[in-house]
Amino acid sequence: MKKKILVTRLYPEAGISLLEKENFDLTLWEKERPMTPEELLGLAKTHDAVLCTLTDRIDKAFLNECRHLEIISQFAVGYDNIDIAAATDLGIPVGFTPDAMSEATADIAFGLMIAVARNMFFMHKTIIHGQWGYFNPTGHLGIELKQKTLGIFGLGRIGLKMAQRCQNAYDMKILYHNRTRNTKAEKLVDATCVGFDELLAKSDIVSVHCALTPETRHVFDLKAFKKMKPSAVFINTARGPIHHEKDLTQAVKEGLIRGAGLDVTDPEPMAKDNPLLFMENVCVLPHVGSATMEARNQMSILAAMNIIGFYKTGRVSHIVNPGVLGS
Ligand code: GLV
Repeated sequence: MKKKILVTRLYPEAGISLLEKENFDLTLWEKERPMTPEELLGLAKTHDAVLCTLTDRIDKAFLNECRHLEIISQFAVGYDNIDIAAATDLGIPVGFTPDAMSEATADIAFGLMIAVARNMFFMHKTIIHGQWGYFNPTGHLGIELKQKTLGIFGLGRIGLKMAQRCQNAYDMKILYHNRTRNTKAEKLVDATCVGFDELLAKSDIVSVHCALTPETRHVFDLKAFKKMKPSAVFINTARGPIHHEKDLTQAVKEGLIRGAGLDVTDPEPMAKDNPLLFMENVCVLPHVGSATMEARNQMSILAAMNIIGFYKTGRVSHIVNPGVLGS
């Protein structure tokens, strides 16, 4: 019997064509929008495997109804939409797509950093509204990044790429905060591991690159923003709930920090009247960190290969919960 694979979005052809070449029975969800939880559950019940992404809620209730799933393959490096503990308890392997989007996401973090430092998005809006005005010798002043201090919250694959960009382009000093020291990354970039409070106090730019977990949810709250420099720029390209949005809004409004660059918000999509969108020193993007041809193709290939590898060899090349497959 052919294995039935539910493919929850229009993923790039590069990976889908690999699945089509195998002996699978594919169900492709061809609408632009994600499935509702009910649609996802209804379809998953009749499939052996799911190729899903961060807009699909794979929680405990879903998994309890889908105990039959043989593999879940996530098209993303983050997997906070999936209850990994519940999947692991049920013995379901969860694949993911690390590293495929590290360059692309670091580019967005780097770009947002410059955009906030120079109020770029706001300037663009003034032109749209016919407010170009005149060359102003004392107006629209941004800050320069040369030799500033970058604080990376979560020095992993993407954080490392951001640190390298900042060191190479601006000779920045790099601090980072991790649960455990990343000595491998320290060999590739001149970075110093510091405590959270020191990171906040000393960084001119704080850039978030960690996973969303119960420990990192809302770690950037008013208390944290108050510990940052009033001239500091906050960048989040990881997951929206890592910062507390109302607290961030207050922090920028009251000048506790200079500004923020966000590729992720909570919720997504952000409401079009969100006050952050109207602030001079805030730049917001609609979660496009991995949105390059190269990254998305590679993510699609890795997500497909995780399924193909599992059915051909019993192994999943990029797996979140390796314990379920034994040694
Ligand atoms: C994107 O946000 C990802 O986790 O890959």
